[in-house]
Amino acid sequence: MTIYLNGKFMPIEEAKISVLDRGFIFGDGVYEVIPVYSRKAFRLAEHLRRLQHSLDGIKLANPHSDGEWTMLINELVARNEAEDQYLYLHITRGVAKRDHAFPNPPVKPTVFMMSNPLLTAPAALLHSGVACITAPDNRWLRCDIKAIALLPNVLLRQMAVDAGAVETILIRDNAFMTEGAASNIFVVNNGKLLAPPKDNLMLPGITYDVVLEIAAANGIPHEVRKIGVAEVFAADELLLTSSTKEVLAITQLDGKPVGTGKPGAVFAKLHKLYQDFKRDVMRAT
Ligand code: PDD
Repeated sequence: MTIYLNGKFMPIEEAKISVLDRGFIFGDGVYEVIPVYSRKAFRLAEHLRRLQHSLDGIKLANPHSDGEWTMLINELVARNEAEDQYLYLHITRGVAKRDHAFPNPPVKPTVFMMSNPLLTAPAALLHSGVACITAPDNRWLRCDIKAIALLPNVLLRQMAVDAGAVETILIRDNAFMTEGAASNIFVVNNGKLLAPPKDNLMLPGITYDVVLEIAAANGIPHEVRKIGVAEVFAADELLLTSSTKEVLAITQLDGKPVGTGKPGAVFAKLHKLYQDFKRDVMRAT
């Protein structure tokens, strides 16, 4: 596997960073995950825009222009084997003596990128749907920043794994649903697709935007608004989206069936439209 670190491409075994890197010491950095289909980065402009939003959120200057990122990303994709890949981009505030405050003057940020093969959900999973659990959203109030400090998300996801489920759906203030530990969540009630608003309490998902665009373009009734916890438990369907999982049906919640317990009609429609959209955008010659 060829990775990129601070200006150089190299085998992952050769990549080394200092133990004083602020990413290692403080989790002081941000990241992106970008899917690549047929060697083309999906929604690259949108991912780079979200990266800028995250960097602004932690007051770290962007080390590259969008043009430079695009060149580096294309080269990383070319140097790795899979046709479909997922890219991980990671920027930290760099290496400095341990002090919570920013290094002054600023030091060079650490820039790391790697690629892994992108394996989308197997047919059996699309057919059965996945199990989720719910838990209180105990994260900070800037969940719109794609921060590398992911300990709450790690612990919340592990709760799902320990319960034999794939994801934890997060409930803020015992009142409304925000998102999953590493995904966005949609609710379907009475044929209408409901999505929580992109505020400071959730990551503005790139897949989330695609799903809403597809719904709008295909006449699927939808609404963006706060979703109460009771609506989650009364849902006819629940959907999970992310760059690596695309669109999945959630068919069990806290051990009970969601709706009929099978992937529903809105999921089937959106999943097909999502695949069509990908094919049209990415595989068109
Ligand atoms: N996670 N919410 C959270 C907290 C996430 O970590 C992610 C993605 C999403 C979905 O965003 P997108 O559709 O842009 O992937 C929502 C990535 C895949 C990860 O951390 O690996």
